[in-house]
Amino acid sequence: MVHFNMLSIHPPVIGHRGASYYAPENTIAAFVKAKQLGINWVEFDVMLTACGEVVVIHDHTLERTTNVKGNVSDFTYEELKKLDAGSWFHPQFHQEKIPCLQDVLALLKQQRLSANIEIKAQIGKEDIIVKKVLDFIANENSHILLSSFSLEVMRAIRKVSDKIQIGLLIDTWFPGWEKISDELNCVSIHLNQKLLDKENIARMKAMGKQVLAYTVNDVKRAKELFSLGVDAIFSDLSEDILTQVV
Ligand code: G3P
Ligand code: MG
Repeated sequence: MVHFNMLSIHPPVIGHRGASYYAPENTIAAFVKAKQLGINWVEFDVMLTACGEVVVIHDHTLERTTNVKGNVSDFTYEELKKLDAGSWFHPQFHQEKIPCLQDVLALLKQQRLSANIEIKAQIGKEDIIVKKVLDFIANENSHILLSSFSLEVMRAIRKVSDKIQIGLLIDTWFPGWEKISDELNCVSIHLNQKLLDKENIARMKAMGKQVLAYTVNDVKRAKELFSLGVDAIFSDLSEDILTQVV
């Protein structure tokens, strides 16, 4: 089994969907802003379009973050890239688009950002998105950590590569998570911060896993989590987090 070095996340704050407090989530503007704010790691979500392109967006549907309704998976990338992915957040961002993964990878390199790419699963297409993401990141120098709520996706990653670093995502506890995180050789476990306490953090650390907590925008909770041993938090980068934690 490959032995991974520890993730180096400094400051220990990952821009959740970029600097999503300041710019529309999962857009180029949000990633550039994160870097400007002194952040070195960003998290973003990816999924497949109708034509098999990998795009950076969180919801499976378009209405919350663009100017149209419908499923991401029903649109081609040619169609998606024409949409306004910024006005919902603020009119000043009306020119922001849904980026494709290659565009964001180029930006990571240019901005010297590391990234956690969270793969959003589409049932039956797990192998397809995994292959595409792994192909795209194969020649990148940026530090990439992959994760997914889908164990199908996580297993598909490990089927193709034992070298890529992956983190197990846990939103609610499920039986066998310890065994699965070991079998998949996960370097980290990414948990909903509400699940975390002194005991379970200590348990994961004893397993040799780094513990990453999402989504933390409250300074008191961030400090408490760090004092309990959490290695890094995912944050929308609220002003308070930037001034008192970063
Ligand atoms: O990867 C951490 C976090 O992003 C998971 O939740 O729904 O914001 O993608 P979500
Ligand atoms: Mg995410």
